Amino acid sequence: MTHIAVDSPDQTVSVRDTFGLDVDLEVPAFSHRDGLVPEIDPAYRFNREVTLALLAGFSGNRRVMLQGLHGTGKSTHIEQVAARLNWPCLRVNLDGHISRMDLVGRDAIVLQEGKQITEFQEGIVPWALRRPVALIFDEYDAGRPDVMFVIQRLLERDGRFTLLDQNRVIQAHAWFRLFATANTVGLGNVNGMYHGTQVLNHAQLDRWNIIATLNYLPQQDEVDIVVAQVPQLDDERGRDQVGAMVELANLTRQGFAAGDLSSLMSPRTVITWAENSRLFGDVGLAFRLSFLNRCDEIERTIVAEYYERCFGEELAEASDWSEAT
Ligand SMILES: Nc1ncnc2c1ncn2[C@@H]1O[C@H](COP(=O)(O)OP(=O)(O)OP(=O)(O)O)[C@@H](O)[C@H]1O
Ligand SMILES: [Mg+2]
Repeated sequence: MTHIAVDSPDQTVSVRDTFGLDVDLEVPAFSHRDGLVPEIDPAYRFNREVTLALLAGFSGNRRVMLQGLHGTGKSTHIEQVAARLNWPCLRVNLDGHISRMDLVGRDAIVLQEGKQITEFQEGIVPWALRRPVALIFDEYDAGRPDVMFVIQRLLERDGRFTLLDQNRVIQAHAWFRLFATANTVGLGNVNGMYHGTQVLNHAQLDRWNIIATLNYLPQQDEVDIVVAQVPQLDDERGRDQVGAMVELANLTRQGFAAGDLSSLMSPRTVITWAENSRLFGDVGLAFRLSFLNRCDEIERTIVAEYYERCFGEELAEASDWSEAT
């Protein structure tokens, strides 16, 4: 893996200047941009509470978990804070495929002076732990029990990690940081929305110092985010269109909460819809391709009705487009 040249933050940055928040706070940062530092997304809008929570994580060594519905910007929020602090990051997705051995390490056969020998190759956790790296466990609530057991050891208070099979103890680097994102608050898939999530152990949840929430934003903020991501829509007509799109997204969220719909539009889907509407030059067709076709067939009439309400015109039938082409 990559070598990290600088061992600790060597400057501080102002939260006001860097994140546009109205607070007098300086936080440690690196002056050098290592290969593991995420790219800056200049269009990213920082949420005040979440940013302050994450900064406490970086500067005060708090373990921060970010919870919220899908596509609200949790994973990117952590990365975008790290990007501005030049903090090296490693994002590990805990969905079904990652195993305990990926995290801890495994014995591998290597060739040394012409002989085959077994050598322990360390996994992600011991590697990151010894470096000034922010380790992000993404989809934390989808982790398998054997993986969660490894993380449990990592979360023990003194910052030491025992490699059981190796009889070795690793002391965490002073600037190693730990973050997680999750869709649920550890209760599992209660509303049927997050298939594959697990019920989390409360003793383990308890070991996170800060739990921040990032859910859907006020309409105007969401419009600003979409326009920032698709700048071609940043004129009066474009903003009107995005306003109607976000309004529709909010209707699907209300419909979902009321039990009328089984899927809802996330901010991520709104951004995709906006991009697709530029691509096709047709907001209705883009809507069908970005969201409607994903809905349950019997719910499509409800969603088409939402469209009519927000755009003041009927959504053209799929057959109308096939005739046109
Ligand atoms: N505040 C924001 N400013 C700019 N873009 C944003 C913002 N929030 C979300 N986005 C965009 O929305 C998309 C979804 O974000 P992200 O993948 O981080 O969501 P998530 O909450 O991690 O979703 P999931 O729960 O599905 O993992 C990204 O393309 C991101 O750039
Ligand atoms: Mg995510």
